Amino acid sequence: TTNCYILAIESSCDDTSAAVLYNGKILSNVVANQKIHEAYGGVVPELASRAHQQNIVPVVHQALAKANIDKKQLSAIAFTRGPGLMGSLLVGTSFAKSLAYGLNIPLIEVNHMQAHILAHFIDEEGYDKPSFPFLALTISGGHTQIVKVNSYFDMEVIGETIDDAVGEAFDKSAKVLGLPYPGGPLIDKYAQLGNPKAYPFTKPKVADLNFSFSGLKTAIMYFVQNNVKEDADFVAKNMNDICASIQYTIINIIVDKLKKAVKQTGIKQIAIGGGVSANSGIRTTLKQAENRFGWKTYIPKFEYTTDNAAMIAIVGYFKYLEQDFADENVAAKARYQL
Ligand code: KG4
Ligand code: ZN
Repeated sequence: TTNCYILAIESSCDDTSAAVLYNGKILSNVVANQKIHEAYGGVVPELASRAHQQNIVPVVHQALAKANIDKKQLSAIAFTRGPGLMGSLLVGTSFAKSLAYGLNIPLIEVNHMQAHILAHFIDEEGYDKPSFPFLALTISGGHTQIVKVNSYFDMEVIGETIDDAVGEAFDKSAKVLGLPYPGGPLIDKYAQLGNPKAYPFTKPKVADLNFSFSGLKTAIMYFVQNNVKEDADFVAKNMNDICASIQYTIINIIVDKLKKAVKQTGIKQIAIGGGVSANSGIRTTLKQAENRFGWKTYIPKFEYTTDNAAMIAIVGYFKYLEQDFADENVAAKARYQL
């Protein structure tokens, strides 16, 4: 049997994270969020890189301490190679390379999008693992993809956004309503108190399994402008109904595409991931889809859906078992296809 300890590093966007995994089990998963971006209404890449540089060593220290292991026990270092912000990726990549070099242990490069999907395979009580093949829906502030997953490393993107990600659709709509960044969780909160059919927004017509969300943002902007002309307090008075209607439209767009993907592939197992999978409406709708459409849906533990190093560690473990190690000249990749 293997006796494998992986230290994983994730720094692709604005969260600095380190995790320790022992075989399939997570021993620690530390995430340092960067509050600085809230003041700017979005992630500022330059500031993200600087914060990663400050956070990375303390975060790794904490991850090792929580796992109660010494770095000399590590079998390999896994890190996010891409996709993501180049300046952010460089910090994690350089750190991982140096540590692997210093400890004289293998280095494993991980694709962040693959990691969001394989997060479902972390051993966690109360959470089932999907069996192959399944469809993975990854929805976050940076990504929106439907992927056909045939095995751990055989994945095919069958649909993706042609403009904004789902999280961006939530955040940009929230901005139009005057809500602070990131507005996704706030839309969710108000939506739970509102009527989802109060204001019908048209769904975009996009071919195949692809998504488009930029039109929705524009539609909401005009909708708000027109109504505010009549009543300056329109948004404040109707916040719950507006949020419920926006969320309902976004969920409909997603479910329509999932239905199409199920029809096209014949696969009824659907695993979701990414920060937007925290959305209560999406969770309820997907659970209901089990009865309505005969799907089997999987939602991982919340801390493995937002950006985190635990998901990088599980991919590192699978690659470790295959002795799939990175060259010492491996470089970060801002654009990194699945
Ligand atoms: O995965 P994540 O933490 O970071 C990346 O973008 O990689 O996702 C963050 C995104 C933001 O756009 C945020 O507004 C959205 O997820 N989000 C939500 C909810 N929680 C987070 N959107 C809608 N409803 C939520 N409950
Ligand atoms: Zn992500």
